[in-house]
Amino acid sequence: MFAERVLSGMRPTGALHLGHYHGVLKNWIRLQNEFPCLFFVADWHALTTHYDDVQVIGANTHEMVIDWLASGVDPSQSTLFVQSRVPQHAELHLLLSMMAPLSWLERVPTYKDQQERLSEKDLTTYGFLGYPLLQAADILIYRAEHVPVGEDQVPHVEFTREVARRFNHLYGKEPGYEQKAQDAVKKLGSKRAKLYTELRVKYQEQGAADALEAGRALLAEAQNLSMGDRERLFGYLEGGGKIILVEPKALLTEASRMPGLDGQKMSKSYGNTIALREDPKSVEKKIRTMPTDPARVRRHDPGNPDKCPVWQLHQVYSDEATRAWARQGCTTAGIGCLECKQPVIDGVIREQAPMFERAQKYLDDPTLVKNILEDGCEKAGKLADETMRDVRAAMGLGET
Ligand code: TRP
Ligand code: SF4
Repeated sequence: MFAERVLSGMRPTGALHLGHYHGVLKNWIRLQNEFPCLFFVADWHALTTHYDDVQVIGANTHEMVIDWLASGVDPSQSTLFVQSRVPQHAELHLLLSMMAPLSWLERVPTYKDQQERLSEKDLTTYGFLGYPLLQAADILIYRAEHVPVGEDQVPHVEFTREVARRFNHLYGKEPGYEQKAQDAVKKLGSKRAKLYTELRVKYQEQGAADALEAGRALLAEAQNLSMGDRERLFGYLEGGGKIILVEPKALLTEASRMPGLDGQKMSKSYGNTIALREDPKSVEKKIRTMPTDPARVRRHDPGNPDKCPVWQLHQVYSDEATRAWARQGCTTAGIGCLECKQPVIDGVIREQAPMFERAQKYLDDPTLVKNILEDGCEKAGKLADETMRDVRAAMGLGET
């Protein structure tokens, strides 16, 4: 059995905020207990839009990785690395660029959107057009099955699937493919071979999805197949070539409802954030000065929590009893807004305490982060090499 890999990346934006924690990092932390996970800093992706502002990338990378660690991403469970230090990604990107249709890249929705949104920048560059292809290389080079991302990144994962399919179609049919596949079927043993063949016909002639599922399950359980035969049989089942690159699936992060200080989604561009490791004094000040229901001008004016951004933070940080207390107190003017805010302040500070604690040793000794990333880059490089050997050979670049 192959352990299904999880891979995700983040551009190096520097210190993260609580929106990142609730929207992305909690998810990573959960996944690292279930799958082998690879998490990386997408510093080349940062260059596609910030090629004119490169000084901050190193510092931002360091800060961001500390925040990952502070949140509980565990380097003994997950592989943490930096994209630019695993240059195999660039080689795969180049090779994929030979067969990726220009029209596929031009119609990825983020291409035009971002060019319009960042109109003060010239994004009519080769690198920016290639953004999704570089992302495809990031994913495919590890044969990752699951890619935890937000909604905005789904088109990139879909694009990656198309690239993998095209690649397998173009390069997965080695000479003597049919014969090699038939030989591999025999190695399943007569009973399994018969079942495999039936399922294959059923899928290919009738498009029966359950037959495909059953066929895959059969292969997953089959012992003593070589890696090459296994890939061949997965591909043969579907009617394509050998599966060299694996089609990944987006693992949709549940839309983060993490509200910012003004009730909009927490985001750096809205200036409504609380940093992951924000000083408690500053947390207190930010929340105390948050806007509330404008109807509560004076202490004895009753309010409506549904019109108040503080109430949204109660949804994240308060238990039911506290929420009932706040709602009751608000609508009857039984409590003041500062009173109402106190449990939220306490909740945020309580959540952050272990993060400060975990971050401290990395702040005291920066070589720890350096070593974690060095280890991670080395591990990632080895996995990337495995795929690149197959890719090179498939594209006619094997050793002669
Ligand atoms: N494009 C992603 C983002 O902006 C970052 C990223 C780069 C990524 N490569 C990836 C995410 C591979 C998942 C998998 O958030
Ligand atoms: Fe908002 Fe609480 Fe004030 Fe009501 S009492 S307006 S919910 S801060």
